[in-house]
Amino acid sequence: MKGVILAGGTGSRLAPLTNIFNKHILPIGRKPMIQYSIENLVASGIEDILIITGYPHVGQIASIAGSGKAFNCEISYRIQDEPNGIAGALQLCESYVSENDFAVLLGDNIFKNCLREHIEKFKNRQEGIECQLLFSKVEDPQRFGVGTFDNGKLKEIIEKPVMPMSDLVCTGFYLYSKNVFDLSRDMKKSNRSEFEITDVNNKFIQNETASYTIEKDWWIDAGTFESYEKAFKLSLNG
Ligand code: G1P
Repeated sequence: MKGVILAGGTGSRLAPLTNIFNKHILPIGRKPMIQYSIENLVASGIEDILIITGYPHVGQIASIAGSGKAFNCEISYRIQDEPNGIAGALQLCESYVSENDFAVLLGDNIFKNCLREHIEKFKNRQEGIECQLLFSKVEDPQRFGVGTFDNGKLKEIIEKPVMPMSDLVCTGFYLYSKNVFDLSRDMKKSNRSEFEITDVNNKFIQNETASYTIEKDWWIDAGTFESYEKAFKLSLNG
Protein backbone atom coordinates (compact mmCIF):
# COMPACT_ATOMS: atom_id res chain seq x y z
CA MET A 1 0.00 0.00 0.00
CA LYS A 2 1.17 3.53 -0.74
CA GLY A 3 1.00 6.45 1.67
CA VAL A 4 0.32 10.14 1.18
CA ILE A 5 1.27 12.76 3.76
CA LEU A 6 -0.41 16.12 3.41
CA ALA A 7 1.91 18.89 4.53
CA GLY A 8 0.50 21.95 2.79
CA GLY A 9 -1.92 24.60 4.01
CA THR A 10 -1.17 27.98 5.50
CA GLY A 11 -0.90 26.91 9.14
CA SER A 12 -2.68 30.15 10.03
CA ARG A 13 -3.66 28.88 13.47
CA LEU A 14 0.05 28.74 14.36
CA ALA A 15 0.93 32.19 13.03
CA PRO A 16 3.29 34.03 13.37
CA LEU A 17 5.50 30.89 13.58
CA THR A 18 4.10 29.75 10.25
CA ASN A 19 4.74 33.07 8.54
CA ILE A 20 8.26 31.80 7.93
CA PHE A 21 8.20 28.08 8.62
CA ASN A 22 5.99 25.40 7.22
CA LYS A 23 3.90 24.07 10.12
CA HIS A 24 5.12 20.52 9.52
CA ILE A 25 8.77 21.30 10.20
CA LEU A 26 8.09 22.85 13.62
CA PRO A 27 9.57 20.81 16.47
CA ILE A 28 7.37 18.44 18.44
CA GLY A 29 9.36 17.04 21.34
CA ARG A 30 12.67 15.98 19.87
CA LYS A 31 11.69 15.81 16.19
CA PRO A 32 10.20 17.94 13.44
CA MET A 33 6.45 17.38 13.19
CA ILE A 34 6.51 15.63 9.81
CA GLN A 35 8.96 13.00 11.02
CA TYR A 36 6.21 11.45 13.18
CA SER A 37 4.02 10.85 10.14
CA ILE A 38 6.85 9.39 8.07
CA GLU A 39 7.98 7.09 10.87
CA ASN A 40 4.45 5.97 11.67
CA LEU A 41 3.69 5.03 8.06
CA VAL A 42 6.98 3.15 7.74
CA ALA A 43 6.36 1.32 11.05
CA SER A 44 2.93 0.42 9.66
CA GLY A 45 4.48 -1.26 6.61
CA ILE A 46 4.25 1.59 4.07
CA GLU A 47 7.51 2.22 2.26
CA ASP A 48 6.34 4.29 -0.68
CA ILE A 49 5.31 7.78 0.43
CA LEU A 50 4.20 10.91 -1.40
CA ILE A 51 4.43 14.23 0.43
CA ILE A 52 2.21 17.01 -0.85
CA THR A 53 3.11 20.54 0.14
CA GLY A 54 3.03 24.11 -1.16
CA TYR A 55 5.70 25.56 -3.42
CA PRO A 56 7.21 27.97 -0.85
CA HIS A 57 7.86 25.12 1.58
CA VAL A 58 8.97 22.16 -0.44
CA GLY A 59 12.64 22.91 0.29
CA GLN A 60 12.05 22.99 4.06
CA ILE A 61 10.17 19.70 3.96
CA ALA A 62 12.72 18.05 1.67
CA SER A 63 15.57 19.10 3.95
CA ILE A 64 14.03 16.87 6.61
CA ALA A 65 12.46 14.05 4.63
CA GLY A 66 15.00 13.84 1.80
CA SER A 67 14.76 10.81 -0.44
CA GLY A 68 13.38 8.80 2.47
CA LYS A 69 16.55 6.73 2.75
CA ALA A 70 17.13 7.85 6.36
CA PHE A 71 13.66 6.54 7.21
CA ASN A 72 13.85 3.28 5.22
CA CYS A 73 11.34 4.39 2.64
CA GLU A 74 11.11 6.12 -0.71
CA ILE A 75 9.71 9.63 -0.65
CA SER A 76 8.34 11.57 -3.60
CA TYR A 77 6.97 15.10 -3.64
CA ARG A 78 4.12 16.90 -5.31
CA ILE A 79 3.30 20.59 -5.20
CA GLN A 80 -0.11 21.92 -4.23
CA ASP A 81 -0.29 25.26 -6.05
CA GLU A 82 -2.88 26.78 -3.75
CA PRO A 83 -3.93 25.77 -0.23
CA ASN A 84 -7.39 24.57 -1.29
CA GLY A 85 -8.02 21.93 1.32
CA ILE A 86 -7.40 18.27 2.00
CA ALA A 87 -9.72 17.05 -0.74
CA GLY A 88 -8.01 19.49 -3.12
CA ALA A 89 -4.62 17.98 -2.29
CA LEU A 90 -5.99 14.48 -2.73
CA GLN A 91 -6.72 15.15 -6.37
CA LEU A 92 -3.00 15.59 -6.95
CA CYS A 93 -2.07 12.03 -6.06
CA GLU A 94 -4.24 10.12 -8.53
CA SER A 95 -1.44 9.20 -10.93
CA TYR A 96 0.86 8.36 -8.02
CA VAL A 97 -1.46 5.84 -6.36
CA SER A 98 -2.84 4.56 -9.69
CA GLU A 99 -4.84 1.36 -9.08
CA ASN A 100 -3.66 0.87 -5.49
CA ASP A 101 -5.39 1.30 -2.18
CA PHE A 102 -3.68 4.01 -0.20
CA ALA A 103 -3.41 5.71 3.17
CA VAL A 104 -3.64 9.47 3.70
CA LEU A 105 -2.16 11.00 6.83
CA LEU A 106 -2.36 14.67 7.72
CA GLY A 107 1.15 15.84 8.60
CA ASP A 108 0.02 17.62 11.77
CA ASN A 109 -1.66 14.53 13.22
CA ILE A 110 0.45 12.75 15.83
CA PHE A 111 -0.59 9.29 17.00
CA LYS A 112 0.92 7.52 19.96
CA ASN A 113 0.21 4.16 18.34
CA CYS A 114 1.41 2.68 15.11
CA LEU A 115 -1.37 2.66 12.52
CA ARG A 116 -0.68 -0.86 11.29
CA GLU A 117 -3.73 -2.57 12.82
CA HIS A 118 -6.08 -0.15 11.03
CA ILE A 119 -4.29 -0.75 7.74
CA GLU A 120 -4.50 -4.53 8.20
CA LYS A 121 -8.23 -4.24 8.84
CA PHE A 122 -8.68 -2.28 5.61
CA LYS A 123 -6.63 -4.82 3.67
CA ASN A 124 -8.96 -7.56 4.98
CA ARG A 125 -12.11 -5.51 4.56
CA GLN A 126 -15.55 -6.76 3.58
CA GLU A 127 -16.46 -6.65 -0.08
CA GLY A 128 -17.86 -3.27 -1.09
CA ILE A 129 -15.95 -1.22 1.47
CA GLU A 130 -13.90 1.50 -0.26
CA CYS A 131 -12.99 3.82 2.62
CA GLN A 132 -11.99 3.35 6.25
CA LEU A 133 -11.98 6.24 8.70
CA LEU A 134 -10.34 6.44 12.09
CA PHE A 135 -12.22 8.06 14.97
CA SER A 136 -11.01 9.20 18.35
CA LYS A 137 -12.81 10.38 21.48
CA VAL A 138 -11.97 13.99 22.38
CA GLU A 139 -13.05 16.72 24.78
CA ASP A 140 -13.31 19.47 22.14
CA PRO A 141 -15.18 17.85 19.22
CA GLN A 142 -16.32 21.19 17.75
CA ARG A 143 -12.76 21.64 16.35
CA PHE A 144 -13.10 18.59 14.10
CA GLY A 145 -15.22 16.51 11.77
CA VAL A 146 -17.67 14.92 14.22
CA GLY A 147 -19.26 11.51 13.67
CA THR A 148 -23.00 10.98 14.01
CA PHE A 149 -23.74 7.38 14.92
CA ASP A 150 -26.91 5.32 15.25
CA ASN A 151 -26.40 2.08 17.17
CA GLY A 152 -22.77 2.06 16.18
CA LYS A 153 -23.55 2.71 12.49
CA LEU A 154 -21.82 5.79 11.08
CA LYS A 155 -24.51 8.03 9.58
CA GLU A 156 -22.71 11.28 8.79
CA ILE A 157 -19.72 13.46 9.61
CA ILE A 158 -20.35 17.10 10.38
CA GLU A 159 -17.41 19.46 9.99
CA LYS A 160 -16.80 21.66 13.04
CA PRO A 161 -20.39 21.71 14.36
CA VAL A 162 -21.38 24.26 16.98
CA MET A 163 -23.41 21.57 18.78
CA PRO A 164 -21.54 18.26 18.31
CA MET A 165 -23.71 15.13 18.19
CA SER A 166 -20.96 12.96 19.73
CA ASP A 167 -17.44 13.20 21.10
CA LEU A 168 -16.06 10.86 18.44
CA VAL A 169 -14.18 12.81 15.79
CA CYS A 170 -12.59 11.86 12.51
CA THR A 171 -8.81 11.87 12.78
CA GLY A 172 -6.60 12.80 9.87
CA PHE A 173 -5.88 9.21 8.88
CA TYR A 174 -7.91 7.93 5.95
CA LEU A 175 -7.74 4.70 3.97
CA TYR A 176 -9.16 4.68 0.46
CA SER A 177 -9.49 2.66 -2.68
CA LYS A 178 -8.97 4.51 -5.96
CA ASN A 179 -12.74 5.21 -6.01
CA VAL A 180 -11.99 8.26 -3.90
CA PHE A 181 -10.89 10.13 -7.03
CA ASP A 182 -14.25 9.72 -8.74
CA LEU A 183 -16.04 10.77 -5.57
CA SER A 184 -13.89 13.86 -5.10
CA ARG A 185 -14.45 15.36 -8.56
CA ASP A 186 -16.95 18.20 -9.08
CA MET A 187 -16.96 19.34 -5.48
CA LYS A 188 -17.81 22.76 -4.15
CA LYS A 189 -15.58 24.72 -1.81
CA SER A 190 -16.77 25.23 1.76
CA ASN A 191 -17.19 28.51 3.64
CA ARG A 192 -13.48 28.44 4.42
CA SER A 193 -12.72 28.18 0.67
CA GLU A 194 -11.47 24.60 0.88
CA PHE A 195 -12.46 21.32 -0.71
CA GLU A 196 -13.40 19.42 2.43
CA ILE A 197 -12.39 15.84 3.05
CA THR A 198 -15.54 15.51 5.15
CA ASP A 199 -17.66 16.05 2.02
CA VAL A 200 -15.81 13.20 0.30
CA ASN A 201 -16.14 10.91 3.31
CA ASN A 202 -19.86 11.65 3.56
CA LYS A 203 -20.26 10.45 -0.03
CA PHE A 204 -18.74 7.09 0.96
CA ILE A 205 -21.07 6.95 3.98
CA GLN A 206 -24.11 7.71 1.79
CA ASN A 207 -23.05 4.97 -0.65
CA GLU A 208 -22.62 2.58 2.28
CA THR A 209 -19.01 1.95 1.29
CA ALA A 210 -17.41 3.47 4.40
CA SER A 211 -16.26 1.68 7.54
CA TYR A 212 -14.43 2.92 10.59
CA THR A 213 -12.18 1.97 13.47
CA ILE A 214 -11.53 3.74 16.76
CA GLU A 215 -8.14 4.80 18.08
CA LYS A 216 -7.83 3.97 21.78
CA ASP A 217 -4.62 5.77 22.72
CA TRP A 218 -3.82 9.46 22.38
CA TRP A 219 -4.00 11.31 19.11
CA ILE A 220 -3.43 15.01 18.56
CA ASP A 221 -4.00 17.40 15.69
CA ALA A 222 -1.15 19.77 16.56
CA GLY A 223 -2.47 22.67 14.47
CA THR A 224 -3.28 25.13 17.28
CA PHE A 225 -1.00 26.52 19.99
CA GLU A 226 -2.88 24.64 22.71
CA SER A 227 -2.75 21.27 20.95
CA TYR A 228 0.79 21.93 19.73
CA GLU A 229 1.95 22.33 23.33
CA LYS A 230 0.07 19.18 24.35
CA ALA A 231 1.61 17.17 21.51
CA PHE A 232 5.04 18.49 22.41
CA LYS A 233 4.71 17.34 26.04
CA LEU A 234 3.11 13.98 25.24
CA SER A 235 5.73 13.06 22.69
CA LEU A 236 8.55 13.94 25.08
CA ASN A 237 7.02 11.51 27.56
CA GLY A 238 6.50 8.84 24.90
C1 G1P B 1 -9.30 18.45 9.17
C2 G1P B 1 -10.62 17.82 8.77
C3 G1P B 1 -11.40 17.39 10.00
C4 G1P B 1 -10.56 16.45 10.84
C5 G1P B 1 -9.21 17.09 11.17
C6 G1P B 1 -8.29 16.09 11.84
O1 G1P B 1 -9.56 19.65 9.85
O2 G1P B 1 -11.36 18.76 8.01
O3 G1P B 1 -12.58 16.73 9.61
O4 G1P B 1 -11.27 16.13 12.03
O5 G1P B 1 -8.55 17.57 9.99
O6 G1P B 1 -7.05 16.65 12.15
P1 G1P B 1 -8.59 20.96 9.68
O7 G1P B 1 -7.30 20.61 10.39
O8 G1P B 1 -8.39 21.16 8.22
O9 G1P B 1 -9.33 22.07 10.35
